Amino acid sequence: METTHRVFVGDARDLSAVDDESIELVVTSPPYPMIEMWDDLFADLDPAVADALEAGDGRRAFEAMHAQLDRVWDELERVLVDGGIACVNVGDATRSVDGSFRVYPNHARVLEAFESRGFDPLPDVLWRKPANSAAKFMGSGMIPPNAYVTLEHEYILVFRKGGESREFEPGADRRYEAAYFWEERNRWFSDVWTEVRGELQALESPDDDLRERSAAYPLEIPYRLICMYSAYGDTVLDPFWGTGTTTLAALCAGRDSIGYELEAAFLERFENQLADVPALSRSVGRTRLERHREFVSQRRADGSTFDYDAEHYDTPVVTKMERNIRLREITEIEALEADDGGDYRAIHEPLSLE
Ligand SMILES: C[S@@+](CC[C@H](N)C(=O)[O-])C[C@H]1O[C@@H](n2cnc3c(N)ncnc32)[C@H](O)[C@@H]1O
Repeated sequence: METTHRVFVGDARDLSAVDDESIELVVTSPPYPMIEMWDDLFADLDPAVADALEAGDGRRAFEAMHAQLDRVWDELERVLVDGGIACVNVGDATRSVDGSFRVYPNHARVLEAFESRGFDPLPDVLWRKPANSAAKFMGSGMIPPNAYVTLEHEYILVFRKGGESREFEPGADRRYEAAYFWEERNRWFSDVWTEVRGELQALESPDDDLRERSAAYPLEIPYRLICMYSAYGDTVLDPFWGTGTTTLAALCAGRDSIGYELEAAFLERFENQLADVPALSRSVGRTRLERHREFVSQRRADGSTFDYDAEHYDTPVVTKMERNIRLREITEIEALEADDGGDYRAIHEPLSLE
C-alpha cells in the first residue's frame, strides 16, 4: 500500500489547492485566540486585532481573531466530503486586558462557528494537560473570593459535515482492516483523556524549541483521532500543520494527508526527521499489539474467555469486528520534488513482528 503526503507552505484561509469534497477527515489545532503567543500572528492576518488589543478591548480582539479562523472553517466546509469529520483541538484562554481578568471561551466560539456552517456537533473529548508545578496557583492566595481555577484541559471538538454518516460497501476491507481493538475503543471513545502524553514516543529533534514554539500536540492525539474517524484510503487534512504531528500520525496510521502551514521553518524540521518515520511507524504498531496482548493476559487472569481470533495476528479478540485488524508499518519513505512545500510518498507493508 502506498500513501501520499502533501504540505503547502501557505495560508489556510485559501485552500484552493484542495479540491471540493476531497477530504474525509480534518484533524487540527488552530492558534488559540487570546493566548498571547499568537497575538502577532493574528495581527499579521488582520491589523484590526492589534488595534483592538491596543485599545484594551478584549472582546473585539477575540472576535477579530476568530473571524480569521472562520475563513478557514469556511474552506473546511467546502473540502470535506458529506459525512466527513472535523476534529478541532482548542483550549480556552485566560487573560487580563486593560486590568480586567476573564476567560475567553474559544471552544464555545469555534462550536458556534461550525454549527452556523451546517456541521453537526458530535460528543467532544476533554484532554488534560498536567501543569505539574505549584507555580500554577501563584497569585491566587489563600483567601476567598477572588482566586480563579487554573485551566488544565483542552477540548477536541468533533463535527460531522451533513446530517448523515459516510457509507461503505458491505465488508469493505479498507474499513475492517482499520478496526481498533475493543479495549482501545473503550479508552479512545471515553470523553476524558488523561493519558495522552508519552503513550506513543514522539520523534526527538535537535530543534525542539520549534515544537514548543508551535504548541505541538502529542502524537497520540491525532493518531487516535485518525484511527477513530477514518479508514485506510482516506485523506486527512490539517490546515494548521505546525510541526506536522498530524502528518506523522497519518503516516503511522497508513492514511494520506495534506497540510497547510504559514511558517516554512517547520517543514525543514519535518524533513530532518523523515528517516526516522519507518521506525516510528513500526513502534506505534508494535506498541498497540503489545498492549493488546497485555490486555488478553489480564482478561484471562480475571477468568474471561474470548470467542474470536484475529486473522492476521496470533491473538484472540473480543468481538467479531476486530478479526480483520491489520496494522501497517512504513518500509520506504521518500521526498519528491515540490516547489511550494513538501511532497512525500510512503510504502506500507503489514506490520512485521520479527
Ligand atoms: C497550534 S499550532 C499547530 C501545531 C500542530 N498541531 C503541531 O502538532 O505541531 C498552529 C499553527 O498554525 C499555523 N497557522 C496559523 N494561521 C495559519 C493560516 N492562516 N494558514 C496556515 N497556517 C497557519 C501557525 O504558524 C502554527 O504553526
